[in-house]
Amino acid sequence: MPALPRLSDESPDPAVLEVSMRAVIASKQYPGAKPSQVWTYEGGVPGPLLEANAGDQLMVHFRNELPEATTIHWHGVRVPAKMDGTVLMQTGIEPGQSFEYSFQLKDPGLFWFHPHMRSDIQVEKGLYGAVLVRGPMEPIVDHETVLVLDDVRVNPDGTFPEYLDDESKMMGREGNMLLVNGVAQPQIPMQSGALERLRLVNVANGRFFNLRLEDHSFRVIGTDGGLVETPWDTETLLLAPGERYDVVLIPAGKPGKSLTLWNEPYARGHDSGAAAPVQLASVRLATTSLTGRTLPESFPAIEKLQAPAADIPVALGESFDDKGELVFTINGEVFPNVPVVQVANGSVHTMGVKNESDMDHPFHLHGFFFQRQNGDPPRNKDTIIVKAHESMDLTARFDEPGKWVYHCHILEHAEGGMVGELHVE
Ligand code: C2O
Ligand code: CU
Repeated sequence: MPALPRLSDESPDPAVLEVSMRAVIASKQYPGAKPSQVWTYEGGVPGPLLEANAGDQLMVHFRNELPEATTIHWHGVRVPAKMDGTVLMQTGIEPGQSFEYSFQLKDPGLFWFHPHMRSDIQVEKGLYGAVLVRGPMEPIVDHETVLVLDDVRVNPDGTFPEYLDDESKMMGREGNMLLVNGVAQPQIPMQSGALERLRLVNVANGRFFNLRLEDHSFRVIGTDGGLVETPWDTETLLLAPGERYDVVLIPAGKPGKSLTLWNEPYARGHDSGAAAPVQLASVRLATTSLTGRTLPESFPAIEKLQAPAADIPVALGESFDDKGELVFTINGEVFPNVPVVQVANGSVHTMGVKNESDMDHPFHLHGFFFQRQNGDPPRNKDTIIVKAHESMDLTARFDEPGKWVYHCHILEHAEGGMVGELHVE
């Protein structure tokens, strides 16, 4: 599997990561198809991996060389609102125009970036990249790999389908090819007996990834907002679009052995989930190196937000509009008609998210982490699966002024109306 591309750091200051990055059209060859025209950050799908330390400043001299306007949203990064890449806070960056994104990376974790204009189209065409921010309390492991998960629907002539079929309108676009770091069916090298850390992000428009590694389980040590207090073990790891997980495993097996990384079916509503498991990648075991490293049993405590009773109702719905078009609603309305939520800067509120539809929605809040109130140790998340007909309370401290959005991260649902505005004043 090829390493993720990197950009050269233009700043001599070790506490600043300064890069130049263009959005440009490029050509990419998917297996079994003629070359495809893709939209990329600096020519690659995925775009560059931006790696820095918590507390560093990230400066991106961005230039749009695409034929239409775009922006960059820094998914999960707690940025000032004017750096958030939504059209509430900046105008679209027109073809040939530039924009300076500059902000501090406050939190360790794996984040990602993508356009926030026509995102169902622009992300699908290949515009996404990962941001890896290291913190002071990182566990020491033998080897670490960032895995960016996507899928793409490619016609044999290399084109992507122009219009959405009914299934894709309803469930979000799913591809016919699964990609790990832009590659179908890659081989991921790992060392037998070593502590292997995987940092995963799902950047697909609509597909949920439900991973299982043959004969192994995953120890989850972190999620969207960095390390969790109490790791847990799981046989399958479910990631909805937008979500991240940080897991560790110790691969067992003779050098040379291959383990299959499967994508297991997952039912997310409307009769989905009947498909057979699909091979996503294979893990190739190399020489045994028994370092004897072990993981800590726990990580530093996360400040638990004291939750007021839910006072921001968010009902997620699906229905048909007057013209018979399928729409996705929040509190019965389609964006931009969803009533704006106003909160005071610095206040803590609980969003009572209620899924009234027949399918799961990955709920995403810009600008702030939230904590689910379910009795578990606190976890900082920015994207969470709200299953069909499930309700959950999500508490956040709204301590950055500006106009923010919350929405479903199935990009076709967001474009179909499932977006709300939240103003912090
Ligand atoms: Cu990654 Cu508004 O989203
Ligand atoms: Cu949705």
